[in-house]
Amino acid sequence: MDISETIRKRKSVRAYLDKPVSEEDLAKIVEAGRWAPNAGAFQISVIHNVGLRKRINDRAHDAMVHSKIEFLRQRVSLPGYEPLYGAPMLILLSGPTEAPHSTANAALAAENMILEATGLGLGSCYVVSPALALNGEKNRDLAQEAGIPDGYTLQCGVIVGYAAAENKFSVGERTMKGSVDIID
Ligand SMILES: Cc1cc2nc3c(=O)[nH]c(=O)nc-3n(C[C@H](O)[C@H](O)[C@H](O)COP(=O)(O)O)c2cc1C
Repeated sequence: MDISETIRKRKSVRAYLDKPVSEEDLAKIVEAGRWAPNAGAFQISVIHNVGLRKRINDRAHDAMVHSKIEFLRQRVSLPGYEPLYGAPMLILLSGPTEAPHSTANAALAAENMILEATGLGLGSCYVVSPALALNGEKNRDLAQEAGIPDGYTLQCGVIVGYAAAENKFSVGERTMKGSVDIID
């Protein structure tokens, strides 16, 4: 797949087969993240451990149920909704809390990983919901288990796996977003 095709083929996958991603593919995905443009330190934590992934999922779920944000409460009320959609792999991206570009560093690494995964025939989704389970003092226990260093904040996550036939929880056709103005 060339890069233009990969970019157009990428989509947020929200239902996964119970099939692991190979170590070889994982290594390529993580490496792709590390080639992204960056302006400072960032940490990639790969969560293989099924029990830890479930606890992150469940804590995010609980935070969504009790959220002040209506969109999150509405989303989590959908039958069968799980914030990590049963994906077999969770990659967390964190950066120094006080650094000015931690969010950009993590997002660029995440997009590189997502495109690499797409090129390998894998489904993926950029997720911020793990922040509900890992950020803040009350979540420090889980953040430590997930390898997020002291002084770092979770910026985003990437879930990866083999897409199930039905892309549950994704509605409507994908469209190009943003607006463009070309100034001559
Ligand atoms: C900052 C950001 C946060 C996102 N967080 C989530 C999330 O927590 N859960 C989720 O299912 N999708 C999340 N997404 C994915 C978007 O919903 C998705 O990219 C958008 O609907 C466009 O769909 P597409 O990726 O299939 O083109 C996030 C995307 C961005 C850019």
